[in-house]
Amino acid sequence: QRTGRITGTGSCVPDLCITNERLSELVDTSDAWIYSRTGIHRRRIAVDETVADLAAEAAQKAMENAKILPEEIDLLLVATCSGEMLFPGTACQVQARIGAVRAAAFDMNAACSGFLFALGTAWAYLKSGIYEKILVIGAEKLSRLLDWEDRSTCVLFGDGAGAVVLEADGKGIVGMVQHADGSRGQVLTCPEGHKAAENSSSLEMEGQEVFKFAVKKVPQCIEEVLAQNGTAKEDIRYYILHQANSRILSGAAKRLQEPEEKFPMNMEEYGNTSAASIPLLLDELNREGKLQRGDKLVLSGFGAGLTWGALLLEW
Ligand code: ACO
Repeated sequence: QRTGRITGTGSCVPDLCITNERLSELVDTSDAWIYSRTGIHRRRIAVDETVADLAAEAAQKAMENAKILPEEIDLLLVATCSGEMLFPGTACQVQARIGAVRAAAFDMNAACSGFLFALGTAWAYLKSGIYEKILVIGAEKLSRLLDWEDRSTCVLFGDGAGAVVLEADGKGIVGMVQHADGSRGQVLTCPEGHKAAENSSSLEMEGQEVFKFAVKKVPQCIEEVLAQNGTAKEDIRYYILHQANSRILSGAAKRLQEPEEKFPMNMEEYGNTSAASIPLLLDELNREGKLQRGDKLVLSGFGAGLTWGALLLEW
């Protein structure tokens, strides 16, 4: 049975680090408030770097890690909701930068679920035999969509990119579930980028509604993907969840009756990087040598749309 296996990971974050203390000079907030409610201490903010810059560097590192050349890539997907250009898309900009001359390239937007949905799309292409080698990137610069005077949202997000190389193989992705509920989309919204830049409005969120949605739907879809593939929770090494908020992850762990140690977190360093958060964390774990071939992992994304889903894979 043909599937897709992750053979390399890479990531890139901007240089500028903004701590909670620094933010409290800009808006009426504090490190204690932010950390206790979100698990975030600092985030990276892109000043000069574009989404394509971050994505291209993450992609280069993932290709080096997978030991493949850019011209071997058949398809390049970028999950983003914050690309600077409506067109050409970020994926095409990255394709040109890295020299993936044979690759088809396009962007996908499912907000914070974007990377998970892009990985699922890549998997479908590999399973069907259409492509052999796919680069899947999650890259965001949400800092440019935020109202930096709104303390209820500007403290939550950060910029960055993560990438994986997915290759056709007999082992790897086992199964996935994906969901959307557009009827609840109003709880987390952002207008088109250029309108945000004109300050007409920016990212808006009903925080508690998003919180309730996430702690309910994330465990549900994880249970669903495990049941669908006859896998027991005890067999899972790590649950690699979108890094929105440590309390959401703790809540999910509790509902699943799984130990929190199985839910690695790095939002303390990077904040919520939307579609970049899962591949950023995956790259960190990979480079720290925490993933062994054969480990079973569950990836789960959730966010605006509303959208959510989970994917089961063997490392
Ligand atoms: N600093 C200090 N006080 C603040 C801040 C801040 N940064 N932001 C809001 N407050 C105040 C509010 O004004 C309010 O004050 P009031 O009681 O005087 O009116 C008080 O804190 C409580 O506000 P709530 O919005 O009720 O705070 P809550 O405890 O719900 O925490 C939070 C807000 C952290 C956003 C929470 O709702 C949450 O974690 N939601 C999940 C949303 C999330 O993670 N979104 C990420 C994007 S979506 C995604 O990635 C899926």
